[in-house]
Amino acid sequence: MTVLPHAPPAPRHAPAAFLRPGQRLAILSALVDEQRGLIDQLQERQRIEHAGRHFWLGRFQGVPVVLTVSRIGKVSASLTAATLIERFAVGAIVFTGVAGALGDGVQVGDVVVAQDFIQHDLDVSPLFARYEVPAYGRARFACDAGLSQALLQAVQHSLAHDFAPARVHQGLIASGDRFVSGQAEVRALRERLQQDGYPALAVEMEGAAVAQVCADHGLPYAAMRTISDRADDSAHRDFAQFVEQVASRYAQAIITRLLDSLGQGPRP
Ligand code: ADE
Repeated sequence: MTVLPHAPPAPRHAPAAFLRPGQRLAILSALVDEQRGLIDQLQERQRIEHAGRHFWLGRFQGVPVVLTVSRIGKVSASLTAATLIERFAVGAIVFTGVAGALGDGVQVGDVVVAQDFIQHDLDVSPLFARYEVPAYGRARFACDAGLSQALLQAVQHSLAHDFAPARVHQGLIASGDRFVSGQAEVRALRERLQQDGYPALAVEMEGAAVAQVCADHGLPYAAMRTISDRADDSAHRDFAQFVEQVASRYAQAIITRLLDSLGQGPRP
């Protein structure tokens, strides 16, 4: 599904809808570069080191938050998400990062807001259907509809005002422990997922892992990925340049708008 950035009126979402008193919203970034700028905006900032990671506590636009970096890959991201939930009283997680384009019409610079996630490299067949996560009976892990709507509106607003003519899409994102970087490889991945009934818009390396951890804990989860490359032969060069020059600006603008909208309601 593609949504045009028509800049709806500034939305208002009460954080209380997602956070109970004493809980924090986690802002998870895939890479340190993507987190740059967000930390500077924290009020009452405090840094805690745990499990080799830095967790930044504070208030962002009045909302109690914890910021951290997932690191790369599904294992690192799951550990980070589980730690956020178990140690930092997190009531909901918002994930920002970059991804390679998979879907038709998805271009570098566009943003994909996740509706749900699949692990494209998980295959326990013939014991289970390809991609199915054993013990869950399904391959797709959905994001929270309300939190994703708030994120979508923040993205639409940012793209229309700060990053035109980029477009926003909403749909399935595929995660796997592989940086997809070849024309033949990306074509094969896109065709396989489509044939199997999973037409993913973007490919990255962490989102599905965090979705599974959030599902285990019944935690609202929303995620967005800015498209940094086409997962083709030049993906590694496009990715590095994009992350350094663009990704942190997107993350900062969109998270500021999201937290601004969430911060309008009663404070938890
Ligand atoms: N993140 C950004 N670009 C990616 C790609 N091409 N493959 C996997 N993860 C990515």
